[in-house]
Amino acid sequence: MKKKTKYLVTSALPYANGPIHLGHLAGAYLPADIYVRYCRLKKRDVVYICGTDEHGVPITITAEREGKSPQEVVDKYYAQIKRSFEKFGMSFDNFSRTSLPIHHQTAQEFFLNLYNKGYMTQKEVEQFYCETDRMFLADRYVEGECPYCHAPGARGDQCENCGKWLEPIQLIHPTCKICGNTPVVRKTTHYFFKLGMFQKRLEEWIGSKKDWRPNVVNFCHNWFKEGLEDRAVTRDLSWGVPVPLKEAQNKVLYVWFEAPIGYISSTKEWAEKIGQPDRWKDYWLDQENTKLVHFIGKDNIVFHAIIFPAMLMGHGQYVLPDNVPANEFLNIKGLKFSTSRGFALWVDEFLEKYPVDSLRYMLAINMPETRDADFSWEEFQAKHNNELADTLGNFVNRSLTFVKNYFDGRLPARGALDALDRELLEKLKQSREEVGQLIDRFQFKDATRRFMDMARFANKYFNDQTPWKTRKENPEKCATTINLCAQAARDLAVLMHPILPFTAGKIWRMLRLEVKPEDAHWDEIGEHPLPEGHPIGELEILFEKIPDKVIKKEIEKLEQIEKQAAENKAEKSVEEELITIEEFKKIQLKTAEVLEAERVKGTDKLLRLKIKVGEEERQLVAGVAQHYTPEEMVGKTIVIVANLKPAKIRGVESQGMLLAAHDDGNIVLLTTDRPTGSGKPIS
Ligand code: 2FM
Ligand code: ZN
Repeated sequence: MKKKTKYLVTSALPYANGPIHLGHLAGAYLPADIYVRYCRLKKRDVVYICGTDEHGVPITITAEREGKSPQEVVDKYYAQIKRSFEKFGMSFDNFSRTSLPIHHQTAQEFFLNLYNKGYMTQKEVEQFYCETDRMFLADRYVEGECPYCHAPGARGDQCENCGKWLEPIQLIHPTCKICGNTPVVRKTTHYFFKLGMFQKRLEEWIGSKKDWRPNVVNFCHNWFKEGLEDRAVTRDLSWGVPVPLKEAQNKVLYVWFEAPIGYISSTKEWAEKIGQPDRWKDYWLDQENTKLVHFIGKDNIVFHAIIFPAMLMGHGQYVLPDNVPANEFLNIKGLKFSTSRGFALWVDEFLEKYPVDSLRYMLAINMPETRDADFSWEEFQAKHNNELADTLGNFVNRSLTFVKNYFDGRLPARGALDALDRELLEKLKQSREEVGQLIDRFQFKDATRRFMDMARFANKYFNDQTPWKTRKENPEKCATTINLCAQAARDLAVLMHPILPFTAGKIWRMLRLEVKPEDAHWDEIGEHPLPEGHPIGELEILFEKIPDKVIKKEIEKLEQIEKQAAENKAEKSVEEELITIEEFKKIQLKTAEVLEAERVKGTDKLLRLKIKVGEEERQLVAGVAQHYTPEEMVGKTIVIVANLKPAKIRGVESQGMLLAAHDDGNIVLLTTDRPTGSGKPIS
């Protein structure tokens, strides 16, 4: 006989380097919380795991910026993030930290397991090294021009403009993030996880996942198309999980190698806390019966759908993810939340002014599931006032006020049911099934809409049954209507509990029901009449309307932040744009003739050019392969920066850079208006 399915649910571990904003909540947290709360109401065996990601360059850079030690930074933000999540009603079973010994030990064991099985290889590699700061510049410690889209300011691990994941060494014109100087290239040794070995297995595995979101599957296919390569999983840094090998002194595990292992160590910590230290094994080691679900934002797909699963495959004992429902981004006015530019709506500030369930509702009904979504104050006010206050709040309030005013605060008896009464009960059962199925399919936006449709129906039922008239004309019918309204309020509380847990609790208290809504059973929705004579408690208004003037202030404030952010950006770019003639003269522009051209193997954007600059021949790597064929390039007179320090791009040396106009994704080469020889100076 098949055993009962166990649910192991995770939300991405947020970096402990800043406060939580609404974008975070909409991406990896609220959907997971709705899902686990629903699972608990279905009485499934579920454990919900999270914690803070406390290593890596994002932490140490914040420490440098704030003039603190990394430990001080993670202590501060761990406490702050934990508190914000509590206020938002996140119902984690455990919220751990990757700086804890239990995590260090679990991550080191995992590394050694893969190492001993031959899934790691050691390689000597070239990396940027800052001679001023005397350190290798891992990941975000180096910034420069993106080798793919040529945007400036790309980070060493990823270009925010085109989204490509990078190796720092690929950056063009690199600068050290700490001191701004140009780093040198030095050799160092690192351990690489042989990801390529898992490509076939990963492709088959993802191919078998028919219910995964298309954004996740397409993303993986693109990676497979490019071919999976070995990935460096160690770094020359002092903050992190030490590499557990004698010969790897002063090296730590790459944060993206160890952070997902944090899901395992957090589950271990949970098991210890509940006094059953082996309990974590029931989930992680039961490949047959555990459904592992990772809730993440779209920027984390590669790690959760490719790299971590490959690590789990290599390890062999652990369960693989059953699904990775990745959300897109929540924006404000079409712009990305930006912590550094101060362009964000912070959870703590928000909850000081507005009810938590109004925020949960707004984020759930506007969830960025299949495309980016936008937060607007106008919509927030409309959803709160029209749906939560006027529909849901009004229904519960008018029903229970009726009990208070006309039935001495005790539920009246239910008599014979008419067609409309039966329809109400039918709708409750139908909503239970539909909302449940939608949540099971990770369609939280539709589930929320469906729930509000039910509240709307109940409100209409009250109107259509006109209890204020039947009270005099047909008291038995009036009693039946109000009894059913009270049941609908109770059932709506269970139905809403995953999305609006605080409001569900209030309704429960008003109804003076014994167990808490979270102790109710989902499948009871629409099934059990409330007993005659049951006394109800103190009534309270569920949602006070938000006045226009309050929202107007928020809109003005946001416009101000937007303006300030734009001005800062403009000022910065004007400052950056103005250079002196002496500075300009430092750049030697020259004409060059293209002698040979060929594609750089394993890339679809790069051409390797052999060029003639006067008497000299040089090699250039240019990102123009999608706009010019090698044949078209040969014979052209192009313009190059002749005194650029040579750089390696995808392992090929480039001795200079050609100039081109970037026109909305199109690249057009700069050439001369009339024929000239090569090596001619340009000014
Ligand atoms: O993007 C982030 O914020 C990462 N800290 C997420 C890590 S998720 C997991 F792998 F731990
Ligand atoms: Zn430096």
